[in-house]
Amino acid sequence: MIKIAPSILAADPVNLERDVRRAAEAGCDWIHVDVMDAHFVPNLAYSPDVVRRLKEITDIPLDVHLMMDRPESLLDEFLKAGASVVTLHAETGNVSGLLEKIHASGAKAGVALKPKTPAQDAMQYIEQADLILAMTVEPGFGGQKLDESVLEKIRALRDAGYKGEIEADGGISEENLQRLMDHGLSVAVMGTALFRNEDMRAAIARMHAFL
Ligand code: DX5
Ligand code: ZN
Repeated sequence: MIKIAPSILAADPVNLERDVRRAAEAGCDWIHVDVMDAHFVPNLAYSPDVVRRLKEITDIPLDVHLMMDRPESLLDEFLKAGASVVTLHAETGNVSGLLEKIHASGAKAGVALKPKTPAQDAMQYIEQADLILAMTVEPGFGGQKLDESVLEKIRALRDAGYKGEIEADGGISEENLQRLMDHGLSVAVMGTALFRNEDMRAAIARMHAFL
């Protein structure tokens, strides 16, 4: 069954607890936390303290996506804060040592690729990474249009024998999810399409039924 991970980037930042509880009660599988450093991406979002408090208000696994140039600078803090999954961008350099560090803490380790970064750049991690995140928009902002070229990247990762989770993030909706799944997707990050939906529970239930 596809995992649905609402991105709190699309939640109301002054009503984060309300929106996270809404997503949890609507039956989501993970909560996606888009961490941004205003350097790797032109936006700024979420500190380890936010993850720590979210961990206190929900048992839903926190799927932390570090859109940071120097992920090592705060990795320990995000792990201590209770992240269940931590994903680092392959564009920041060789992340193999950091993936080991994530595993040593008991969390799952992911490698993210921007839309223009080829699947080849993840190949060195396919034995080590529990998850590969194929960004379907240029990272930094929600509400963008899905980049169709990423579908082939997802299929290429599966064709290369990757058996772990493949996650996509950006521009995903009920309308394009089935095609993403047909190419091998197993986790869908959805911000706008879910938080703007007046019946999140019904939408998640419909998508959980996709095969
Ligand atoms: C981009 C962000 C967005 C967000 C989800 O850096 O990662 O992809 O999570 O975006 P939408 O609102 O398109 O689902
Ligand atoms: Zn993300």
